[in-house]
Amino acid sequence: MFRDATARQTAGLSTERHASSPTDKRSHAHTLLLFGVTGDLSRRMLLPSLFGLDADGLLPAELRIVGTAHHALTDEDLQGETRKLVEPLAIERELASSVVDRFLARMSYVAADASDPASFADLGAAVRPRLGGGVAIFLSTAPSLFETTIDGLEQAGLTGGTTRLALEKPLGHNLASSREINDAVGRVFPEPRTFRIDHYLGKETVQNLLALRFGNLMFEPLWNAGGIEHVQITVAETVGLEGRTGYFDGMGSLRDMVQNHMLQLLALVAMEAPARFEADAVRDEKVKVLRSLRPLDTDRESVLGQYAAGAVAGLPVPAYGEELGRPSDTETFVALKAHVDNMRWAGVPFFLRTGKRLPTRRSEIVVQFRRMPHSIFPGSGAALQPNRLVISLQPDENIQLSIMAKRPGLDQEGIRMREVTLDIRDADAFADVRRRIAYERLLIDLIGGNPTLFVRRDEVEAQWSWIDAIRDRWQAAGVRPRLYSAGTWGPSAGVALAERSGVSWHD
Ligand code: BG6
Repeated sequence: MFRDATARQTAGLSTERHASSPTDKRSHAHTLLLFGVTGDLSRRMLLPSLFGLDADGLLPAELRIVGTAHHALTDEDLQGETRKLVEPLAIERELASSVVDRFLARMSYVAADASDPASFADLGAAVRPRLGGGVAIFLSTAPSLFETTIDGLEQAGLTGGTTRLALEKPLGHNLASSREINDAVGRVFPEPRTFRIDHYLGKETVQNLLALRFGNLMFEPLWNAGGIEHVQITVAETVGLEGRTGYFDGMGSLRDMVQNHMLQLLALVAMEAPARFEADAVRDEKVKVLRSLRPLDTDRESVLGQYAAGAVAGLPVPAYGEELGRPSDTETFVALKAHVDNMRWAGVPFFLRTGKRLPTRRSEIVVQFRRMPHSIFPGSGAALQPNRLVISLQPDENIQLSIMAKRPGLDQEGIRMREVTLDIRDADAFADVRRRIAYERLLIDLIGGNPTLFVRRDEVEAQWSWIDAIRDRWQAAGVRPRLYSAGTWGPSAGVALAERSGVSWHD
């Protein structure tokens, strides 16, 4: 199926399609239908990812990429635009120009207006003959167009058993609207053929977290309230609104980042071991965690912020309201103290923090282990520091474990201790493997029909239930975001939220 199986291995993608059951009947789609092919996500992520996969020989030889949008374009127009995107990537990787030509030869274009199902006739005529080989459909369009797109696909005969559908966030803005979207999708695409994207699940270190937890004996016995004191999850961004006024101002950080990416990270840290690394086994365990989230005491356990003017990386940046062009109560920072109410995590707080215009771009999970209950080295230099595991997702992928070690020397007064860090820098340990962007993983899994790294309906709905309750309480109490200067770690109340529990954020 793949042109070059050894390419798969050196490129960091297994020659097996994930660990799958012997009865697995998944097959690779021969057509990828990309809605919104001229849009931002497609240009920044999807087309470059597909090119990267093709250049490494990882796309099925038969795969055709059919791009669609409402513009009247020809195949040559789409190929020409795509060439401009991928040629610099080919030059950077010193690839022959034939690699670019081969990729472009896979591409064709058919216009369809996602808001008008009647305009799907040409698309149907172009894609129906390819249904037998399997069709993966990627909706990289505004969610407001999902329903009409699905109607159009149905009318064009493109929703049969050999098709599968991938959807980008946001899947609604609350539980009710998310259910509406899920109902509309589910009417035509049953759950096993629906692939909901959370691009954090495509990130290498997120998968590495599972490898670490379930591939090493040493962590599991301590991975519970007996061994872990608290967990911190930070997703810090330096960017501001980035022109996404319409979208972001309606959402805010809680719904834009916590509802999806951060709760998925929390679920992966907290879940029980699935029996196998397989779609339903993994998602069954995640959803149990999401349903065990304790409703937040928003007065004591949440802080909202919005950036005021300040400086990021030495450059002055305007306030959120100024970027937006009007005053707003939307939060650009949120800090929460969450609890997973089950036996494993009783009494262990999960601190979540995300914000825009923070001092650095950094996403990480910090697992703080408990102190040694007794020290046999009293008075020997530094006190014993509890172990800490830091899993960095961005900007560098890395895992660090801090442990206590003896300071070298012939000390007469007893052993002197120091905290040292074991550093599993991914880039060094696997220097020969090319780093991949999340969408490469997700696209290859979509084409291959493996839903393990996609979000199931019950997960999305459990996430929304918890988030909706927080927003309802904020609204009832009239909570408004506190201002913080751009380039700082959010309002000081965010620091106090952790400090009240005797915890310092890992900055
Ligand atoms: C998106 C959010 O889902 O994730 C953005 O809508 C955010 O607001 C982005 O900037 C962050 O993704 P990453 O991969 O850059 O951490």
